[in-house]
Amino acid sequence: MKLLRLPGRFEWKILLALFIVASLPLGAAAYLMSVTIGRIEAITFQHQEAVRQSLGGAVDVYKAYFDKMKDSFRARANEIATGPVDHAADLAEVPDLLRARILAGTRVVDEWSAAPNVIADAHEAPPNLVALPSVGPEPRLLEVTFGIPREIYSNFLALRAAMEEEHELDRLLPVVLPRIFHGLGVALVAVLALAAALGLFIARRATGRVATLSDAARRVGEGDLTVRVAPRGSDELDDLGRAFDRMVAELSEARSRLVYLQKVSAWQEVARRLAHEIKNPLTPIQLAVQELASTYRGGDPAYQRLLETAQEILNEEVGAIRRLVDDFSAFAKLPKVEPLPVDLGQVVDDFARAHPEWQEALHVDRHAPVEALCDRMLVRRVLANLVENAVQAAAAAGKKPMVRLAVALDASGRAASLTVDDNGPGVEAPSRDRIFDPYVTTKEHGTGLGLAIVRKIVLDHGGDIRLTDAPAPLGGARFVVTLPALPGAGPTAPPRATPGGRRIP
Ligand SMILES: Nc1ncnc2c1ncn2[C@@H]1O[C@H](COP(=O)(O)OP(=O)(O)OP(=O)(O)O)[C@@H](O)[C@H]1O
Ligand SMILES: [Mg+2]
Repeated sequence: MKLLRLPGRFEWKILLALFIVASLPLGAAAYLMSVTIGRIEAITFQHQEAVRQSLGGAVDVYKAYFDKMKDSFRARANEIATGPVDHAADLAEVPDLLRARILAGTRVVDEWSAAPNVIADAHEAPPNLVALPSVGPEPRLLEVTFGIPREIYSNFLALRAAMEEEHELDRLLPVVLPRIFHGLGVALVAVLALAAALGLFIARRATGRVATLSDAARRVGEGDLTVRVAPRGSDELDDLGRAFDRMVAELSEARSRLVYLQKVSAWQEVARRLAHEIKNPLTPIQLAVQELASTYRGGDPAYQRLLETAQEILNEEVGAIRRLVDDFSAFAKLPKVEPLPVDLGQVVDDFARAHPEWQEALHVDRHAPVEALCDRMLVRRVLANLVENAVQAAAAAGKKPMVRLAVALDASGRAASLTVDDNGPGVEAPSRDRIFDPYVTTKEHGTGLGLAIVRKIVLDHGGDIRLTDAPAPLGGARFVVTLPALPGAGPTAPPRATPGGRRIP
């Protein structure tokens, strides 16, 4: 149905170009041919005129010659008839004689014929009839037939045939020329029709793809970043389509980061206020209860015990609330990232050494140095949250925790990756999208801030974090953090995990 619509302006241009290209050679050929044929016609006309004149002259000469011969044959016949002719064979010596017959009335009384090949064919002329002196009662007639040389006659015939052919040629040229031009015209129309069909097909394909691209660009302009053109070919338009898809994907990623960062910043504000509001009354509450317990002077020991127990519970709960407030404050006051070139592997090693409590569980895979641009202190915070989650997940599943940290440079050499694998139960599909949101937790005493802090720090670095779908090698979750690599660090071979990894001392 698409092919049936009227051509657009770009398609008209392509069609016009194709028309010109297709019709130029044929038009030029027709022009050259008409000029050449015109010249040939003029030359042959003159030539034919001359040939016709000379041929006509030659034929006339032959005709005159034949007339002369006929006259001479008649005269000779009369001459022969005056002599004594008793038998036809008496005339055997007469030159050019072909046949002699003596007739009495209608009867042939004597006949002689020249031996074949002696004398040439007779020219189609009636035989000469002359009266012979009578010998009997019946009148006698002599019929003599003369011949002319075979060569002369056949020359004459050839000349006549040539003349006829010449006339035929005259008639032929005016018939053939229009046919040639007609044929050229038909070829031109056919070529133009073919060029139109082909041009329209090619133009439609190109404009169709451009239309798809511009439609996709319009939808992106309207804010739909899920649009992809996904070209399958390998020409320039397909390259453009792939570049477009990459651009939209990057745009979509950038937008989701921006949205996330905006959300986090709003949550940080809430956390800051909450922390402030909760923290303020904690000390007065604690002091009041302490005061109550210490100033009780009554003699009721049961009441005294009740007061002490209440004070204990309160201190415990206030302590928990303080930790919560600390977490809120930490989240609210995340420091600004100050990136410096560091060996990411070294940062991971240092982190492992600084946490002897995880020494049993932690394995580090690192080979060549991976130079990245990052804030060492904040990356350690990222590691702490991820490892803590991993250890907690495995322990909650009743397993001995095992966490593998791998550091590598990606193939493009522009990003450094930090992979955290664990042997826990992994993350259920429905929660995957939400676990990076603040306050999302499945733990009884969790705040749900760990991964929000991690993602905020990573995004502030210009990197990203994702939870991979594929089953992780240790059977649990796999988080991959990407951070900007130091420019010019160059790609290195992907890390080869030594069996069991390198145990942190
Ligand atoms: N390695 C993991 N394996 C399985 N589930 C995980 C893992 N890491 C995170 N999760 C899930 O993501 C949720 C959010 O994690 P996050 O670190 O943000 O908060 P939290 O650990 O619950 O609380 P907090 O970090 O404040 O102690 C967790 O409650 C848990 O359900
Ligand atoms: Mg956590």
